Amino acid sequence: MASSERQEGILLPSVNGKTRILGVFGFPVEHSLSPAMHNAAIAALGLNYLYIPFSVLPEDIGPAIRSVVSLGIIGVNLTIPHKERVLPFLDRIAPEALAVGAVNTVHNDNGQLVGYNTDGEGFAGPLNELGFGLRGKRAVVLGAGGAARSVVFRLARENAAVTIVNRTLERAERLAEEARIATDFVRGGARVSCLDFCDRAGLRDALAGAELLVNTTSVGMSPHDGDLPPIPPQAFHPALFVYDLIYNPRETRLMAEARAAGCRTLNGVRMLAWQGAAAFEIWTGVRPDVCVMEAAVEQQLGGR
Ligand code: ATR
Repeated sequence: MASSERQEGILLPSVNGKTRILGVFGFPVEHSLSPAMHNAAIAALGLNYLYIPFSVLPEDIGPAIRSVVSLGIIGVNLTIPHKERVLPFLDRIAPEALAVGAVNTVHNDNGQLVGYNTDGEGFAGPLNELGFGLRGKRAVVLGAGGAARSVVFRLARENAAVTIVNRTLERAERLAEEARIATDFVRGGARVSCLDFCDRAGLRDALAGAELLVNTTSVGMSPHDGDLPPIPPQAFHPALFVYDLIYNPRETRLMAEARAAGCRTLNGVRMLAWQGAAAFEIWTGVRPDVCVMEAAVEQQLGGR
């Protein structure tokens, strides 16, 4: 065995004939933090489950997800590139996942595959825990990709006023329109507008009146730790909460500058733990300790 494959000091869980299987389908899946996070929650609760990473090629998602039923797997998470591709293979899809158009959690409910999206809960949970409710807030969201979708849909559902700021404006406009349509039940209509990433004056004005700034782009992610989204100087103000979904590094340059200006800040570790906790509860019916999951993520990140 190559030394890189050998793991020191890992205690094997006691697997037996009654052990129930959970897992994550991804490609690549090697860097997923979910196995460590979920197995820590399982161990803390003393449950007889095991969470396993499965490397599933993009073209194999159909047979792989149907095998969840034939193998009696209780549930799986889905990560890149499966979150959208999996939809046609499911029996039922929860409303939030259907609206977002992406599934990150599948539950084998007595042979029926049910898709959920817990990313919105992962995003909102840590804010609520800190006493920061989203209802009616004014928010600026940087980015319009996959991560932005769950964030924008959740904000729109909470009747927040959202400004999506993206390098590719058409992509932001498409997401804004989808969020408006998906949340047309919101009284007064969803309030979603768009800005070009380079519109510094527009961004300055939007941030001046905002209570929340969310970075969903990869700008500032390791190894480009020094990069900063083009936020105009003086745009940070102490009433602005800055939430960067990046967790490597733990404090991005965006967060550091915001903190220096007196803003409250949060990175993506809690979001990861909260979306995981919501999935875990769907599968097992037990609410895990989100702090245990967060500590497991931190431990994994310690070496990165
Ligand atoms: P994810 O699923 O992580 O959101 P994605 O769907 O590829 O990944 O979306 C990445 C987001 O980060 C997009 O909004 C992208 O902007 P574009 O739509 O213009 O591509 C944004 N992004 C990535 N790198 C960027 C950069 N260097 N500057 C500005 N925006 C960037």
